[in-house]
Amino acid sequence: MTHLFDPYTLKGVTLRNRIAMSPMTMYRSKDGLLNDYHVMLLGSRAAGGFGLVFPEQLAITPEGRTSVGCGGIYDDAQIEGLSRVTRIIKDMGAVPAIQLGHTGRKGSEVKPWEGGYQLPPDHPDGWPVVGPSAVPYGGKYKYSVHALTRDEIKTIHRAYADAAVRAAAAGFEWLELHFAHGYLAASFLSPLANERTDEYGGSLENRMRFHLEAIDAVRAVWPERFPLTMRLGSDDLNPAGVQFDDAIVAVGRMKEHGLDLADLSLGFNTDDMMSRPFNEMAFMIERAARLRREVGIPVATSWNLGLPQVADRVIRENLIDLVMLGRPALSNPHWPVWAARELAHADPFSLVPEDWGWWLRNFRAHDACIGWPVSSQPERAAAQ
Ligand SMILES: Cc1cc2nc3c(=O)[nH]c(=O)nc-3n(C[C@H](O)[C@H](O)[C@H](O)COP(=O)(O)O)c2cc1C
Repeated sequence: MTHLFDPYTLKGVTLRNRIAMSPMTMYRSKDGLLNDYHVMLLGSRAAGGFGLVFPEQLAITPEGRTSVGCGGIYDDAQIEGLSRVTRIIKDMGAVPAIQLGHTGRKGSEVKPWEGGYQLPPDHPDGWPVVGPSAVPYGGKYKYSVHALTRDEIKTIHRAYADAAVRAAAAGFEWLELHFAHGYLAASFLSPLANERTDEYGGSLENRMRFHLEAIDAVRAVWPERFPLTMRLGSDDLNPAGVQFDDAIVAVGRMKEHGLDLADLSLGFNTDDMMSRPFNEMAFMIERAARLRREVGIPVATSWNLGLPQVADRVIRENLIDLVMLGRPALSNPHWPVWAARELAHADPFSLVPEDWGWWLRNFRAHDACIGWPVSSQPERAAAQ
């Protein structure tokens, strides 16, 4: 039976386990550059045993960022910082992954802990935001949205391809397109944001054209041996928005275009959601397992999977292929080692760099005093 710590191979890439650090925007960049902070953040998670490590969503154009403090991959000058990140991740035994995105209607913001509001287009740190149609998101996003022309859509698809070329040059080995969370691609899929009457709007096939063309543009330049995946806004939780049945059809079409894995999340194209499952444990799993079964494609998902027993169960029960951890990766850089101890793994310290593992196995007099939580109830964990 496959478990959380079994290696996972997709295309020509093998992860040492089924645990990924999910992309998380950090607001710590200037001019879109990754720096020492990102090397620290991502290197420590790789050293802590994660099998796949994502930096934050990286913007394919300057206006594709959430804020002026967000990372980008729209300029060759950004390759150096990205290469530093991939080098440390690989040195620490993990695989470096990249998430390419464009925030669309949800750009031009200030940091969440400074209010998270949207800046006007004429503010020095703001810009005019774009979308499929001139439909404002509402709520805190109050400035008008420029509806992209067909030529502008083509330019954005070229930017995806250029970014993928830079990603390969920087040493990434796994590429995810961000099609979720109310950002540009998510808003093309959603009737809540997309009122176009051309070939990019209306029917589901038209609303997913933006995505299929992005996949085609990237697949043409991204090395065939490396996985190409995407994170989908698979449900708007609103009767007028994207329904999960739409996601099943859309992922099926993406698979025909060369998609290797679907990472499922929600649409977030509106604040008006019929249900808010955010306190429920593992709330994406049922949808993810259904899509995996019906489309026949490997699946990853996140959302409240941070209890080791839950993360392990969804792999053992063959519901998903890869567990994505966001907040747990922020709160505990060594989450995989902690989980391994909780789950009575035979050798949890095999997950840290070899020299640390040697010291931790061979130089400890008092198990409770080496700085790792003592595995609370290994017998109970082993029985689960
Ligand atoms: C600080 C923070 C920043 C995030 N930024 C991104 C991002 O850049 N791209 C993305 O797809 N999801 C982003 N997310 C969502 C996470 O990747 C993840 O899907 C979500 O937190 C649910 O997983 P969790 O329950 O393990 O935290 C972010 C989440 C947090 C907490």
